[in-house]
Amino acid sequence: MDVFYKGTSLTYKIIGGLLDFYFFSGPDPLDVVDQYTALIGRPAPMPYWSLGFHQCRWGYKDLSVVEGVVEGYRKANIPLDVIWNDDDHMDAAKDFTLDPINYPHSKLLEFLDQIHAQGMKYIVLIDPGISVNPSYGVYQRGMQKDVFIKLDGEPYLAQVWPGPVYFPDFLNPNGVSWWVDEISRFHQLVPVDGLWIDMNEASNFCAGKCVIPTTHKCPEKFSTTPNWTCCLDCKDLTSTRWDNPPYKINASGKSAPLGYNTIATSAMHYDGVLEYNAHSLYGLSHAIATHKALLGLDGKRPFILSRSTFVGSGSYAAHWTGDNKGTWEDLKYSISTMLNFGLFGVPMVGSDICGFYPAVVPLEEICSRWIELGAFYPFSRDHANFASPRQELYQWNSVAKSARNALGLRYKLLPYLYTLIYEAHLTGAPVARPVFFSFPEFTPSYGLSTQFMLGPGVMVSPVLEQGATSVKAMFPQGTWYNLFDMTKVVISKDASLITLDAPLNEINVHVCQGIVLAMQRGGLISKEARQTPFTLVIAFPYGTDGAEAKGKVYVDDDERPEMTLVEGEATYVEFVANVKGKTVTITSSVQMGTYSLSKGLMIEKMSVLGLQGKAKELAIEVDGMALGNTSSVYFNHFGEVQQGLVERGNKKGMLVELKGLELPLGKSFSMSWQME
Ligand code: GLC
Repeated sequence: MDVFYKGTSLTYKIIGGLLDFYFFSGPDPLDVVDQYTALIGRPAPMPYWSLGFHQCRWGYKDLSVVEGVVEGYRKANIPLDVIWNDDDHMDAAKDFTLDPINYPHSKLLEFLDQIHAQGMKYIVLIDPGISVNPSYGVYQRGMQKDVFIKLDGEPYLAQVWPGPVYFPDFLNPNGVSWWVDEISRFHQLVPVDGLWIDMNEASNFCAGKCVIPTTHKCPEKFSTTPNWTCCLDCKDLTSTRWDNPPYKINASGKSAPLGYNTIATSAMHYDGVLEYNAHSLYGLSHAIATHKALLGLDGKRPFILSRSTFVGSGSYAAHWTGDNKGTWEDLKYSISTMLNFGLFGVPMVGSDICGFYPAVVPLEEICSRWIELGAFYPFSRDHANFASPRQELYQWNSVAKSARNALGLRYKLLPYLYTLIYEAHLTGAPVARPVFFSFPEFTPSYGLSTQFMLGPGVMVSPVLEQGATSVKAMFPQGTWYNLFDMTKVVISKDASLITLDAPLNEINVHVCQGIVLAMQRGGLISKEARQTPFTLVIAFPYGTDGAEAKGKVYVDDDERPEMTLVEGEATYVEFVANVKGKTVTITSSVQMGTYSLSKGLMIEKMSVLGLQGKAKELAIEVDGMALGNTSSVYFNHFGEVQQGLVERGNKKGMLVELKGLELPLGKSFSMSWQME
């Protein structure tokens, strides 16, 4: 179908099929997504490490380059959890193979041992197109099991990176079991931690019915410079209504047969299902089969990144928004695209940071701004085309500085992000959401896609313009505290734009009043960051003496597939803070505390925002037992209370810090004190 949106009208030009309409009545935006994902499938649990930073590139020509990248991040003190290979590790772009010269097996295993020992992860690409090559085992076994999509009774021939390929049919049970088996064979060869499934729309460099040419070699020779010109002998399929319906959709800007640059629409899947009917399911079925394969390996929670998605894909895979450009326009677009995918039930989403295709402009400034924004994508990965200049974040000092700053905050916010993944899994709630999701009454935010929220309480206001050193941002009514410097406060009364300082290496990220944010100390790798003590940031509205703030945190053993609250495997804690008159109280209520106790997770600090005066007379109860102020470790650091009153314009903000606490996250506590 073609879909035309003209601002006041939405037109679907549909060439056939049945229309099923579902209406989700809400009433709130979060209710709509809850109802929608109850129908289509809840977003998949994601492993904790996948919330760390990822580095990828097409064109890491050998293993030593990859090793250099990991080293580059280490030296520059920029967090990195996951290192990726595009198809460079493959032998002639064939799935599940290794290039024996540039990625020798034993060397790769040594490298993986090293990074795994540090807690880092490794992901590689696989495309669905299987090279037509009688000496290639993956192809041989696929032919034996008859797993490929067919046209006129023969496997349908297409062309992708390795040259001529056949596409497996993931609607065919044999196709699925063959794929599961190939992944398991590959995993025995290379213990990857996740898989990237690409080109699965399916993308085909040719169109129509093709044969391998007899007059010339195709591809001419497999070279390291990728080539996407069709070299097969092809003819358009025009004789069937499946290939050539009377209405021509707009395919790549031209009026072409329906199967243009994909699988011919008259091609046949398992059980007589036409590609015409199943086209949009290809990427979804690919993700489902891959998910099954990863689950079967060692019972760990799968991580899959897919380019093609359909309704329901979020239950199996994360998504990146495809081949963007290193331009300011694409930087901006990445926000609305990410927010859309949140609504579609695919909350683990992000765009290629710094841009995939090189822009004509130098990358340094845009890359700084991009990592500042991209550090707050749910899925945060820098990826580039083989022809782009190198753009790892340490390539420029200024970008490295921006990265340390922005990713530094992301790694402190990991427990919050992970809790949002848990909520997404339970209710479909997007991790990155439009502002109106949290503030449905705030109508001026309905068209806002230059800022967004992470969960209910964190606002990200990035710079999206070249040369800018400030940003004009909109805030729903209330007090907002800058998370980089909590003494910087925005008090918003209405929808007017507020100008915030935004020097090149800084992004504005604010927490909203009414929120208790569970943060940790951060670090350079999520495995270590997640073991550090917690800080609760408690954001009261400024200058009110009757206010409440709430928050929660979910922690678990992310190796297991499920994201469920099970004793010994996960802990869930809710925090409520109140200020009534002069009395401040903070309480936690814990479900399934034993997991977090077994991990020794502690709360070391509270940063309480918005109070006025001096704090005194602290009392703490843990599990209902009062702790004395002399002998108790929970109490003896109250003396370190720090108070600061900072002016910003004519707004005043107050920060009270309670330091040196040792409250076990897994035990319910209640705490109170008086403000003088
Ligand atoms: C596609 C992907 C891109 C990848 C390239 C080579 O263009 O979208 O991310 O680098 O293929 O595999």
